[in-house]
Amino acid sequence: MPLSQRWTLSRYLIEQRRRFPQASGELNALILDVSLACKAIARIVSFGELGDSIGQAPQPVGGSVNVQGEVQKPLDVLSNEIFLRMNEWNGHLAGMASEEMETPYQIPAQFQRGKYLLVFDPLDGSSNIDVNVSVGSVFSVLRAPDEAGEGARDVTEADFLQPGSAQVAAGYAIYGPTTMLVLSVGYGVAGFTLNPNLGEFVLTHPDIRIPADAHEFAINTSNSRFWEPPIKRFVDECLAGRTGPRGKDFNMRWIASMVAEAHRILMRGGVFMYPRDTKDPDKPGRLRLLYEANPIGFIVEQAGGRASTGRQPVLGVKPSALHQRIGLVFGSKNEVERIERYHREPAPNDSNVPLFAERSLFRD
Ligand code: AHG
Ligand code: MN
Ligand code: MN
Repeated sequence: MPLSQRWTLSRYLIEQRRRFPQASGELNALILDVSLACKAIARIVSFGELGDSIGQAPQPVGGSVNVQGEVQKPLDVLSNEIFLRMNEWNGHLAGMASEEMETPYQIPAQFQRGKYLLVFDPLDGSSNIDVNVSVGSVFSVLRAPDEAGEGARDVTEADFLQPGSAQVAAGYAIYGPTTMLVLSVGYGVAGFTLNPNLGEFVLTHPDIRIPADAHEFAINTSNSRFWEPPIKRFVDECLAGRTGPRGKDFNMRWIASMVAEAHRILMRGGVFMYPRDTKDPDKPGRLRLLYEANPIGFIVEQAGGRASTGRQPVLGVKPSALHQRIGLVFGSKNEVERIERYHREPAPNDSNVPLFAERSLFRD
């Protein structure tokens, strides 16, 4: 299709806004600033070790440890700075929070404050940077509580502790062979590909839908000894393939970059699991609720898929802390529902359950 017939991100946002004649356009403006941050990060990521040739000196701060106890790479810190600088000035935000900052970021006094909160993981899968594998950025937009909106007071951690169902918009950018932005403002999911010549995100995937059934799963199997029985059962049944209870063969993928995993699932279906396990009793899961699980969950559900902790829809979880971790399962609806069912049911090798309970003439 010629470029002249394609929509830019700006046009898509304007067309979406027509649903709300009273809308001020602030959300659109905010998303455009977020998209600019993603373009800046894409550019830096694409230069890799040559980063200093675009004026990006190696960052001395890399190697420090963030609030999660994880080593921050220089690009984690730099991407966080880019998100802050691109979004602090526009007057649409009451505050920001990120994986890389222990406490919420207050909009500096010289700028106006607005009615939204922005929460982000500036660089997801950053361990993949060194090996030139896809990474991404993930973001979530919430409304600031009235008492904190438009600068009435500084934001607090409690202001951000809203369930994922309260998100106004969510999205991610993936820095892969092409850079893409995948976005939902609550009416389906659209994907945009960065045209590097124009520096514009162009609508290439207007209505992304996740197939209900899958034959591909993603999980870090090195953790299998720590899995809870429902996850073990689900994976065992996938591995059993055609002659097992599922009656079909499955394929497996693990990129160790949730954004890349989510993107594959949005494009062709599948199920992703980073479930709660017994590896570290202090960590109920690996991924973070507010800036990983919730935005990805919102997008997945907007695309007709499902996102769950295994026990409940992830978007229904009331957060208790900014950096809370959670078990996460998302992707093709029927697979996620099956995993949820396995969490409710006793395992088939329980003495109460007839052998091969999953086998039936009417196998689904
Ligand atoms: P981050 O780089 O923001 O810390 O996130 C990495 C996450 C996620 O992207 C990925 O799914 C997971 O960590 C990989 O974990 P393993 O190293 O256990 O495979
Ligand atoms: Mn991450
Ligand atoms: Mn990160």
